[in-house]
Amino acid sequence: MSTADEQKRASAAKALDYVEDGMIVGVGTGSTVKYFIDGLASMKDRIESAVSSSEQSTAQLKSLGIRVIDLNAAGPLSLYVDGADECDPHNRLIKGGGAALTREKIIAEASAKFVCIIDSAKEVDVLGRFPLPVEVVPMARSLVGRKLVALGGQPVWRENVTTDNGNWILDVHNMRIVDPLGLEREINQIPGVVSVGLFARRPADVVISAGNVRANR
Ligand code: A5P
Repeated sequence: MSTADEQKRASAAKALDYVEDGMIVGVGTGSTVKYFIDGLASMKDRIESAVSSSEQSTAQLKSLGIRVIDLNAAGPLSLYVDGADECDPHNRLIKGGGAALTREKIIAEASAKFVCIIDSAKEVDVLGRFPLPVEVVPMARSLVGRKLVALGGQPVWRENVTTDNGNWILDVHNMRIVDPLGLEREINQIPGVVSVGLFARRPADVVISAGNVRANR
């Protein structure tokens, strides 16, 4: 069986099939996306530019000679390619292990097609084994933490991490997320929450796991 790293490379390579000439490509963040950006560089003359979800991806894109533009200048995107920390059978995701969830969510929302690239260890039946990241305005950290405890979770402050937006992250442990859509809605309503790393309202359209396009379930 291939390693997680080989599976990430295979998924990233397969995602290049979705890139069409002249596209502005939405680009996510993480170790799997790093391979995708490497591949994108080999076809950089065919694309128009990229919209990036993090300073980390922006740096890699620029270092490889891919033009990065602001989402406001790009308008609606045709394609967004990103990784995930967990994926359920309905293509609903947990994201944010790399603290880039808010910009990732914005770009996913702006994109007609979201292609999610993962290794097979990310596939779960029920989301929640991976601690759920929640980006919060710093002054609301304790308040949001208490609300998350009331929802049944155990939030842990990801100390020493400040997001690209100047905010903090709470990782919510021990939540078995049987109603991802309802929980996403509920957490979004807590004052001080910037975004939650649950992608249920806007799940992935295509999931490529270990290089294979997963059948829609
Ligand atoms: C970044 O905040 C995350 O949402 C990543 O997309 C996610 O953590 C996947 O990362 P890997 O590809 O490194 O597993």
